[in-house]
Amino acid sequence: MHKKFSKLGYILAMAGSAIGLGNAWKFPTMTGNHGGFAFIFLYFVLTILIACVAFLAEAGIGRLSGKDTPKALIELAPKGQRFWGLGGFFMITALLIASFYLVVIGWILYYACLSIAGLPASTDEAGKLFDSLIKNNLTSVLSCYFAVLFITFYTVSRGIKEGIEKLNFILMPSLFILLIVILIYSFTFNSSGFSGAVSFIFTPDFSKILDPELILAAMGLALFSLSLGVGTVSTYGASLGEDTNLFKSLLYIVGLNICMGILMGLVVFSFVQVAPGASANEGPGLIFVSLASLFGELGAVGSALGFMFFISLLFAGITSAVSMIEPAVRYFEDEKGISRIKSSAILGVLVFGLGVLCVLSFYEPTKESFAIFGKSIFDILDYATSNVLMPLGVLFFSIFAGWIMPKERFYTLFLNYAPKFAVDIWYFILRFILPILVVGIGIYRLN
Ligand code: PHE
Repeated sequence: MHKKFSKLGYILAMAGSAIGLGNAWKFPTMTGNHGGFAFIFLYFVLTILIACVAFLAEAGIGRLSGKDTPKALIELAPKGQRFWGLGGFFMITALLIASFYLVVIGWILYYACLSIAGLPASTDEAGKLFDSLIKNNLTSVLSCYFAVLFITFYTVSRGIKEGIEKLNFILMPSLFILLIVILIYSFTFNSSGFSGAVSFIFTPDFSKILDPELILAAMGLALFSLSLGVGTVSTYGASLGEDTNLFKSLLYIVGLNICMGILMGLVVFSFVQVAPGASANEGPGLIFVSLASLFGELGAVGSALGFMFFISLLFAGITSAVSMIEPAVRYFEDEKGISRIKSSAILGVLVFGLGVLCVLSFYEPTKESFAIFGKSIFDILDYATSNVLMPLGVLFFSIFAGWIMPKERFYTLFLNYAPKFAVDIWYFILRFILPILVVGIGIYRLN
């Protein structure tokens, strides 16, 4: 018999999965550059309308069967249609994401250590340092990558209760406290920076949100951020306690996810000041160059702030990475009878190997040989997973839940948590609106 999450354990573990690098370096920048609070509003609406609908379907599949993803699909499909189980292999997407995501968490670990030793004090120096880290410093990159990968797989090998739930119980509150401490510092000693960040993030400019490109980007982010379409949500759903109210938990998860995005945004932009009307960088340029050098300029205080900031990113990243691995480990454990420890070890080696390819695709001496059509393996994996495989996974789960599974299965479960009209609306969006929108994003993005 598998152990189940406690009520709070589920909320924290799922919020831990949701809150990750997406919140840290995509959400703040998109918010600031695309209409501030207007963007938050748009993101919120899309999260509720689209991402939450997909979430309930995927989590419902896990909860109704209590099995690993391929088995759940086989069990819930009509008799004689075992082939639907193949959809469970979307969990490979999660392993692919883990391989490059953990490389980035490795860089974050390196920067946490660097904060103690001293961060570069100018943007120029910081840019050169980041460049030389990924292009020349193979030993540091690989050892940090290995360290974070080991923590991730070790946690998963310990199981739902002893591993994943415990990790999230410690890291999620710590993440929150660290961000609040940095914000209190900023509010007290850096008040002009703080108010700049507030106006960058909260000034609504509704003229910018009607851009279709932006709507699609916001929707992509909403799906990525709720960890949808890769078996994470269904696998965590399979470990949901009997007495957990899925709808209520989802409200907390989404609330925490958005709040953390806003907190991260306030932290980042209270240091990285962006002039009104100008745009901010996103991704590595924002975190490892702009922000790192600003902490560097602040001397000892900056070291402490930088350390807290990078540790909080590390925590956010690791709790997400763990949730990318659990689906496959659970599958090996249940279907193939391989112990958790053994399957974590085997998958660990596989993911490590893939991640090394990503690392080598940045490393100067091997860069050329690890590029395909002029793109690094890292970029290819990033693009293929977030723009192709994840949306396909979301599409698959929503079609399966809306068109293949008998309607009563969901109704019987969900009517315990919500009134009938709410379940009817959910089912309508699931069947008609969600697939059209996801296909729409797909076609638009691939163009
Ligand atoms: N939601 C995570 C983030 O925003 C990423 C993630 C994707 C986690 C897929 C698990 C599965 O960073």
